[in-house]
Amino acid sequence: MRKIFISPSILTADFARLEQECKALEKCGADWIHCDVMDGNFVPNLTFGMPIIKSIRKCVVLPLDVHLMIDRPERYIAQFAEAGANLITIHAEATENVADCLKLIRSCGKKVGISVKPNTPVEVLQQYRGLFDMILIMSVEPGFGGQSFIEESVNKIRRARELFPDVLIEVDGGINKHTAKKVIEAGVDVIVAGSAIINVADRKHAIEELRKM
Ligand code: DX5
Ligand code: ZN
Repeated sequence: MRKIFISPSILTADFARLEQECKALEKCGADWIHCDVMDGNFVPNLTFGMPIIKSIRKCVVLPLDVHLMIDRPERYIAQFAEAGANLITIHAEATENVADCLKLIRSCGKKVGISVKPNTPVEVLQQYRGLFDMILIMSVEPGFGGQSFIEESVNKIRRARELFPDVLIEVDGGINKHTAKKVIEAGVDVIVAGSAIINVADRKHAIEELRKM
């Protein structure tokens, strides 16, 4: 049986209590912490940048899974690496220099992720084969937590698994215990969940529920 990693997104956490929130997630059995960086251009929302990643780095030992929803991420890769990200994911739609950007992440000694929005076919990633360790399939339009899972994502995950048997596949958006089952069956390794973990009283239980096959 393969291991399923749970990467809670802090997007819906209380940002005034980020230290306690992150420590609580660590205690509750999270495998990674998913950090959603948004620039108000690539997506119609703004969140946080390097200083917050740097602060989170000091409060937990868990790997930081940094999801960059920003245009031309190559401008900031070195700074996110320096701030303490362990895995840096960029969007295939965010830059004209995807390959260089992926190489840059690797040259900073970090794990490399590449993400596709719901309308971008996973086939576009074939040209970057060998340059990434993980594919992030967005199962909602990026930008906001609490949206409904796009069902077509299940087929997309299956296709990604076929095309790229050797990389991790992560899914992000609208994941709860029901959708988690479907995506695990389709082949994901890493589950991102925001509201399904953060907005419930028993987060430990919520994390355990998501892991169930
Ligand atoms: C959306 C973010 C997600 C978001 C998921 O653009 O990338 O990580 O926090 O939130 P839920 O799990 O509530 O859909
Ligand atoms: Zn995300």
